[in-house]
Amino acid sequence: MEHTDPATLLAWHIAMGADEAIAGECVDRFTAPATTLQPIAAPAQSQNAHAATPQPKPGGPRRVEAKPVQAISGAGQAAAESAAASCNTLDDLEAALKAFDGGLLKRSAKNTVFADGTRGAALMVVGEAPGADEDRMGKPFVGASGQLLDHMLAAAGMGRDKDVYISNVVPWRPLGNRTPDQAVITMCLPFIRRHIELAEPKVVLMLGGVSAKALLGTEDGITRLRGRWKELDLNGQKIAALPAYHPAYLLRQPHLKGLAWRDLLAVKRKLQSL
Ligand code: URA
Repeated sequence: MEHTDPATLLAWHIAMGADEAIAGECVDRFTAPATTLQPIAAPAQSQNAHAATPQPKPGGPRRVEAKPVQAISGAGQAAAESAAASCNTLDDLEAALKAFDGGLLKRSAKNTVFADGTRGAALMVVGEAPGADEDRMGKPFVGASGQLLDHMLAAAGMGRDKDVYISNVVPWRPLGNRTPDQAVITMCLPFIRRHIELAEPKVVLMLGGVSAKALLGTEDGITRLRGRWKELDLNGQKIAALPAYHPAYLLRQPHLKGLAWRDLLAVKRKLQSL
């Protein structure tokens, strides 16, 4: 095979979403005996099911059960609604989220990524979901897109260390950095809505289509939504909210940084006017 530079291959696997070890040992599929790659024969009729189950050959690859990609088998939206509604402080909400049965997504994550930044800040930034760096560190936006976000905020005279509070719609890392599916977003929505309510920002900046669509309850795409002021209604509490491009998207489409900068300045002006 050409192009077998290990670093390139590793980067390609990560980009394809193959970023998790699913077995304790490496298996060289090129040298594995051909018989182990054959489809497993249907078990013969038997009183004893175990007798008919094909056993792995010693030395052959271990069979690994396929894992559902992002199934949600957790407590669901109704339980999320009631857990979120019962919280009266951000600490309560963080504890409730950590105790919540978020299904396979939560079980596959290292951390429940709750928030970072300054509680009580006038600006709350809401992203999509943690990536690998955020999952490892337990904080939102600490990877490459977080660094871009921090630079942009700093250029506008803001920062999470003083006047910005940051969270995500989904607090658990989707496997393989996929876009969280709708069932997961629906389950997590009561928590992020309550999170905003309790954080009481004056302005919410929704980064990316997942965040904007979930919080605004719309199917419109981010290209149409960005830069247009909306209002979130959280149990009667009205909060100005602006959809904007996600920094991860800006890293791939740097020519859009000008529009993102314009949106950030609009946020700054709005904050000064309130
Ligand atoms: N992207 C997000 O939407 N949130 C994070 O925390 C990191 C990357």
